[in-house]
Amino acid sequence: MASDLVLGIDSSTQSTKALLVDAATGEVVSKASALHGPGTSIDPRTWLDAFDVATAELLPRASALAVGGQQHGMVALDAAGEPVHDAILWNDTRSSRQAADLIEELGGPQACADVIGSVLVASFTSTKLRWLRDHEPEAAQRTHEVLLPHDYVSRHVTGGEAFTDRGDASGTGYFSTADDAWRPDLAEAAIGHAITLPRIVASPEVAARTSSGVVVGAGTGDNMAAALALDLGPGDVVVSIGTSGVASAISTTRIADGTGSVTGFADATGRFLPMATTMNAARILDLQCTLLGVDHHELGRLALAAPSGANGLTISPYYGGERTPNRPDATGTWAGLTASTSREDVARAAFESLLCSLADAVDLLTGMTGEPARRILMVGGAAGNPAVHALAPAIFGAPVTVPAAGEYVALGAARQAAWALSGAAEPPTWAPPPAETHTAEPTPLVREAYAQLRDRTSDWA
Ligand code: XUL
Repeated sequence: MASDLVLGIDSSTQSTKALLVDAATGEVVSKASALHGPGTSIDPRTWLDAFDVATAELLPRASALAVGGQQHGMVALDAAGEPVHDAILWNDTRSSRQAADLIEELGGPQACADVIGSVLVASFTSTKLRWLRDHEPEAAQRTHEVLLPHDYVSRHVTGGEAFTDRGDASGTGYFSTADDAWRPDLAEAAIGHAITLPRIVASPEVAARTSSGVVVGAGTGDNMAAALALDLGPGDVVVSIGTSGVASAISTTRIADGTGSVTGFADATGRFLPMATTMNAARILDLQCTLLGVDHHELGRLALAAPSGANGLTISPYYGGERTPNRPDATGTWAGLTASTSREDVARAAFESLLCSLADAVDLLTGMTGEPARRILMVGGAAGNPAVHALAPAIFGAPVTVPAAGEYVALGAARQAAWALSGAAEPPTWAPPPAETHTAEPTPLVREAYAQLRDRTSDWA
């Protein structure tokens, strides 16, 4: 008998990706995608249209589905369920002042981390709600319910009451990782009145069904979904190079880092997913591609033709403000340009700055969890670039394992859907993706040059 098919969705910053997967084996049977618009705030109904396009052919074949989505985005809805404002996304830094205000109201950074697991930065939903209250009071007043991007897409499929999971909820700023429950008082304090929050559903549960009877799982944040797909174990650190750069690891203990370097999120399995996140990742390469008039493949080829250290060219790549380090108003800086700086150097410096910023994120993460990285797994669009394969182990000073290119967020959502469908206590066992491990001689001088520029530019914005 053919096994059930499950649909995993990644409603990401840039696009919606859908994978139809065999529930028993995890094998991808079919896939589709649809683009979202650009920008750091967007009409959230765009995601629903993209969902409809991406799933049109796949949903009728699925027995269950779950949605993984970009974390943190604020979807503020009126009593009729219509958006009162564009969704303000995780990478929009307009609410950095509000983050500082809310931290102070909570009693300072450590007190904030003790409650919500993280020190608030502008990415968190609560800071965006406070921004709405401060700058768009009429829209704030009309706000009845606040959802995360993945909740909003899930409700589009099911209708009725909205639901979420503890993983994505832990990025709002009004979920207590200490109590594993909402703190509605914190949501109310952020926006100025009580709001409706989605029901929290655990991954093994059926959250709802579509009108045609398809099981819908809780869904989760994109990073939690990727962790589920990769079935992380102790000592595994995942480095993801997407729109954001993320270093994350599964932990059985709750993290409350008062320095704010590591966010102590919950995961989708009942454990925790501490994480250090950069806001500038793929865009570092994108900018260089635009400036040099090349694609990513050619950028990688150019980078490999330059020496380590890019003949002295170093970049602090905080082009759109940054969160690791926390510099919401930063811009990028190039240092060490000479009359003989070449296209190759410029390409090399982009890869080096990207990987140095991610190496910093890994160090912050492992420093906080106390669990050294036994294995570094690298995923995301740029992880397939030969320049990353050559440079990452040199800059990280450790072997780097790159699983075969895949949509790991959508795959993790599919695994969550299969879990809910099975009714079992544990997620289904799927074969791990094939992977290649890359090694190289460490190049500590590259990291030193990066660190010097990073620290020299600390008060420039
Ligand atoms: C994590 C974060 C990003 C988004 C990207 O805290 O803000 O990784 O989840 O979609």
